[in-house]
Order: sequence, then structure tokens, then C-alpha cells
Amino acid sequence: MRTLHVNLGKNSYDIVFERGLLSDVGKYVKREGRRLAVVTDDNVAKLYADGVVSSLEKAGYRVSLIVLPHGEKTKSFNTLPQIYAKLLQQKITRKDALVALGGGVIGDLTGFVAATYLRGIDFIQIPTSLLAQVDSSIGGKVAVDLTEGKNLVGAFWQPEQVLIDVNALSSLSEEFFTDGMAEVIKYGCIKDKNLFKTLADCGGKKGLLPVIDDVIYRCCDIKREVVEKDEKDKGERMLLNFGHTYGHALEKFYDFEKLSHGMAVSVGMYAITKIAEEKGLTAKGAADEIARVAVMYGLPVEDSAPASEVVKGVVNDKKNLGDKLVAVLLKEIGESYLYPTTAEFFK
Ligand code: GLY
Repeated sequence: MRTLHVNLGKNSYDIVFERGLLSDVGKYVKREGRRLAVVTDDNVAKLYADGVVSSLEKAGYRVSLIVLPHGEKTKSFNTLPQIYAKLLQQKITRKDALVALGGGVIGDLTGFVAATYLRGIDFIQIPTSLLAQVDSSIGGKVAVDLTEGKNLVGAFWQPEQVLIDVNALSSLSEEFFTDGMAEVIKYGCIKDKNLFKTLADCGGKKGLLPVIDDVIYRCCDIKREVVEKDEKDKGERMLLNFGHTYGHALEKFYDFEKLSHGMAVSVGMYAITKIAEEKGLTAKGAADEIARVAVMYGLPVEDSAPASEVVKGVVNDKKNLGDKLVAVLLKEIGESYLYPTTAEFFK
């Protein structure tokens, strides 16, 4: 078992890494006797709900289960009333807690419910996708989508624990694994050239699997460090958005149908680095390196959508309301910085 401690004063918590913990979750959760409402989706429920619920019950918790349809549509503001109603039926009080068992959609949604139900209750993250394990389960950004766009209503609400079982990745489809790899590559790009080199040397998923535990741990450690410096996303934490500004606009351009988040971020990382190189803001060769590694892991780096149309979405992104935006650029692979500019940057 390995642990990372996220030091955020009274909102501090541990990230626990242990293969197999999903079948023994009760051992890791604290404060027995309280009620726990496990929130998951229908795909994850088939695999893990029975094991998680019975392990928690054996450890002395009173457990209820809420199973939602899988997919981004579930992360809608409109899903909230039915979850609040179920929690009320299940008599979940402020002394109790929610357990988010699933990928980013379940983690973000459950976290938002935890932040708002009865003015806020505790929640535990048990991320089962690569993207959720390296990124969305850590740092307390919780949100739901509006019809106008993703994550437009949310909060900073830190979990009381993050429990990571890397074995869960073996049940992940290729598509979801690839999706998460964009965030893994992102960490190498923004903070750690050795991590980036490891990803390049592994040559793809097959080569990566023998070292995946260390890679996930390293990504979480980078995220921990960034979040500790800037919990509320006013400076350093924005570095985690490398590739995301253009990526989000591209996802939206296709109405979230054609490209996954990771695919769009991969295109975004390459696009912004290519432009920054041309402007002399990034060391030459970085964009090609990103492309080489992204392609190894099955990610695209180019898309046929006209940049002039995609950029219209950049100005509507929640981080760039108004015409100003803070671009995340690489000095070189492994070192990133913030560059205040406007959407003109992409034209
Ligand atoms: N996923 C970006 C962040 O947590 O800030």
C-alpha cells in the first residue's frame, strides 16, 4: 500500500493506492457506524457494487446504493433532484457520507451532490477509470453540466479520502484507457520531463502496463503538489489546463459526440504547442514530441474541424468569459507557464 497526503489544512486527506482494495474497501474507510450512500453507474455497478457494498457492511457501515445510467448525460443539473430525493429517502444525514464509485462523471456529480446536499456532507472518491484516478478524483473540483456547456455549475469540495485500485483499469475499454492517457501525457508535458520520457520509452500501452502503478502515483503526486499550492485555481492550478482550452472548444464544436475529452485534449496540447513554437514561446520540437507520444497511445493530434470555427468556442469557455484568456504554454517538455492573452492567440 502507498499513500499520498494532500495537505489542505482542515480539508487535508489521503490518497491510498492498493491493488485489490475494491474487494476490501471497508478496511480503508474510517468512522464506522455512519450511513454510506454509494453512487455509481450501471456499468461499474455490474462489476464492483456488490463487492464494495458487502465489504462496507462487513466493516460496520449501513450502506445504500444509487445506480445511475452511465455516460456524460447523467452529469446533468437535471439529474440532481432525483439523487437528493433518494438520499432523503435513505435518511442520509450530515453525519453520513457519499461514496463516488466510478469514473469522472460519477466522481464530479457525486462530489457536487456532497457539496450541496444539506449544505454539504462528506464524500469518498473511489475512481475506477484512468482519467479519474490521475486527475478528476483529486483536488475537489466537483460539477454538473448545463445545456449551455460542461461543468458550468460546481464547487471546490474536497473528498475525505481517495481510494485507488489500479486493478480496476483491467476492466476499462481501450477507448477509456486512451482517454485517460491524454491527462497522463499532460502531466509529463507540464511538470516532469522524466515522466514524459518514461511514456515515450514504453512505446505504448503494452510497454506501459508493467510500470503503470508508478506512473499513476507520479501523476497523483504532481496533482497533489499543484492543488496544495493553489486549491482554488487562481494561478498554478491553471497549468493543469494545458491543452484544455482548445480541447474543450473542440469537444463542444462536435457537441461532445465525435471526440472524447482525452482525444480533444491531445489535439489541444499539440495545437497550442505548435502555435507557441511558431511565436517563439516554446522550444522548437516540443509539438512533434507530443505528437509522437500521443500517437503511441492511440490519441489523435490533428482534427479536420476548421480552427477559425473551433476558436469561437474558446471565448465561451467558463475560464475565458470575456475575451481574455490565460494560455498554458510549455517552455519545453516538462516545464510550463501561464501566458495571458486573448482568443486571437489561436488565429
Ligand atoms: N482537472 C483540472 C483541475 O483539477 O484543476
